[in-house]
Amino acid sequence: MADLANLETTALAALRACTDEESLRAWKTRYFGDKGEVQQALKGIGGVPKEQRPAYGKEANRIKESLWAEYEQALAREQERTLEASLTSDALDVTLPGRMVPRGRLHVATKVLREIYAIFADLGFQIYRSREVEDDLTNFELLNMPLHHPARDMWDTFHTTTDGVILRTHTSPGQIHVMRDPRYAGRPIRVILPGMVYRYEQVTTRSEMMFHQVEGLAVGETITMADLKGTIIAFARRLFGDDRTVRIRSSYFPFTEPSIEVDMDCIVCGGEGCGLCKKTGWLEIMGAGMVHPVVLRNGGYDPAKFSGFAFGMGPQRITMLRYAIDDIRQFWANDLRFLRQF
Ligand code: PHE
Repeated sequence: MADLANLETTALAALRACTDEESLRAWKTRYFGDKGEVQQALKGIGGVPKEQRPAYGKEANRIKESLWAEYEQALAREQERTLEASLTSDALDVTLPGRMVPRGRLHVATKVLREIYAIFADLGFQIYRSREVEDDLTNFELLNMPLHHPARDMWDTFHTTTDGVILRTHTSPGQIHVMRDPRYAGRPIRVILPGMVYRYEQVTTRSEMMFHQVEGLAVGETITMADLKGTIIAFARRLFGDDRTVRIRSSYFPFTEPSIEVDMDCIVCGGEGCGLCKKTGWLEIMGAGMVHPVVLRNGGYDPAKFSGFAFGMGPQRITMLRYAIDDIRQFWANDLRFLRQF
């Protein structure tokens, strides 16, 4: 019985001396392991005189349970303390400002294209994608410009090493692709054809060798110049404001007859004359016209039955007008200082 009392005192003292979880675990092994001291004490009952065994067993069990309870409490206290300590030492200041992550954005050219798509979508135009690598036939010949036609000079062309394969100089060859597409095949057409075009030109503040165009094509049995005019006015007002007005000048393109160029009253001075419109009061926004009968026929549409209008505009030019950008080279120079403004 004295040994038991002794065990309890030393075990308790050893437990109190534990300063961390590791020493607590070591204590547990020492007293409660398979060959631990508590276990030994319980086994020791064999050496106790028979009449003292009940009392010894009772006391040994009491000590075992009490020590175990003390141990569990000590362990819980220790774990609590460690947690508290780590919460204080690793504390986060959630009020500190975060690190800014640079956000990507759409290129200004993409943004303006999407605005244009939305406007024409409302007018019932679908988007038709046409190839950028064209053949001479579709880019020129089927658009009513035979090989030695002087009008080809209007488009300085990038040729490839393969005979007759070129980069399209405008989106107009797409007109042929739409009309010949079996999904249309003689049915009415109302599409826009956006995309990159290429010109073998001196790069200046006003001209690039690659830029976007958005072509428009409507073909049907009752289409007139009035439809073209209405479409252009609706477009200009949606993009530039409700009281915009347009002016139509006669022009020449081999693939339209009659051909026109469209000006819009200057968005800066409203027609008074200023730096942007070079004192004329007008800004040129597109070339257009009624689809030439030869082009209709080349597309498989009978000009006796069908008529159509087409237009071609440059979204970069429109963007320059809108944001007073004075150098077209900004668009593809990848200068983030420029691009981040939009
Ligand atoms: N393709 C012409 C150009 O690049 C624009 C245009 C398109 C004119 C459609 C009339 C009709 O200048």
